[in-house]
Amino acid sequence: MKKKITILAIETSCDETAVSIIQENGNDKPLILSNVVSSQIEVHKEFGGVVPELAARSHIEKIDLIAKKAIEESKIKIEEIDAVAATAGPGLIVCLSVGLNFGKTIALSINKPFIAVNHLEGHALSPKINKKINYPYLLLLISGGHTQFLEVNGVNKYRRLGTTIDDALGEAFDKTAKLLGIEYPGGPKIEKWAKKGNENYFKLPKPIIKRGGCNLSFAGLKTAVLRTSKKLKNQKEKYHLAASFQKVINEILYEKTKVAMYEFLKNKKNKKNVFVIAGGVASNLSIRENLSKLAEEKNFISIFPPINLCSDNAAMIAWAGIERFKIKLTDSLEFPSKPRWQLDSSAPFLKGPGLKI
Ligand code: KG4
Ligand code: ZN
Repeated sequence: MKKKITILAIETSCDETAVSIIQENGNDKPLILSNVVSSQIEVHKEFGGVVPELAARSHIEKIDLIAKKAIEESKIKIEEIDAVAATAGPGLIVCLSVGLNFGKTIALSINKPFIAVNHLEGHALSPKINKKINYPYLLLLISGGHTQFLEVNGVNKYRRLGTTIDDALGEAFDKTAKLLGIEYPGGPKIEKWAKKGNENYFKLPKPIIKRGGCNLSFAGLKTAVLRTSKKLKNQKEKYHLAASFQKVINEILYEKTKVAMYEFLKNKKNKKNVFVIAGGVASNLSIRENLSKLAEEKNFISIFPPINLCSDNAAMIAWAGIERFKIKLTDSLEFPSKPRWQLDSSAPFLKGPGLKI
């Protein structure tokens, strides 16, 4: 019988210390033997955002215990692991270094290959843990640090169709939450508050909605939310602002995804086109519903990772590791941390004042 590939992976790019072991399972879904995630929300909430030095210290304090737990839960012996994967970027350099060095040390000590994984590739391939999906597919990656439309043509083969030119979507949720007095990370609570409010109460702008292809912008929206938040009279109005904000986000995503689908379909003759949404913000059920509807209208099959694989975790890094290992993409122990690391290296940098799109 062919040996099943087993990968141990580590993720410490931001404020989650995570270790997972997963095993390929022939044509079936891979087995998640363990998936341990330790969040640092308590460490950062009083600061309203992630403090890099505190995050790194917390990773250092916890990484060996989390790894021990993941190995114990998996019920496998460390010698059965075929390779060790770790997130090498993008992210906070002091945080990345902890997991990357820990991963390299394990690989060296068990004399197995090391795989450096791009965190965004982890998110991009995460829906494949639960479902077989053929390449190419259209991906909307929405997380705390990134917002991009990508054509996923295979491991290491990405074409960026659009990106945010300022804030990431998760950042826009978190900043709105902060203005409403919600602790970091406020995205999930905005979703809860939105259910209690009137989404038509405040009129908010949709920056670059009619231009810039499927590039996105949230800075102007943030300014409008800031202005509105200063005039709020009571808790009910806070709910209205959360609801109005979420509604406008859904309208922006609807329009921009339509453009991205059009771009994706140029030169494609697939019978079944797949649209995948990944990253922490993909946990938001109203966004899921909104974009599933659009996908149906445009004849795309929409696929989401399960909620526990949307936000940062190491199972997605392990899966990217399996896909890379299968095509012999392993790395040297000298692989550096890459705080900036685009999936599509040919895509232009689209950020900063004075940008014309
Ligand atoms: O992918 P992720 O865990 O970390 C990054 O790679 O950035 O995404 C975290 C982001 C945070 O900004 C968080 O507020 C947002 O995802 N988020 C949500 C929801 N759940 C998490 N935003 C809106 N609605 C949610 N339900
Ligand atoms: Zn992430």
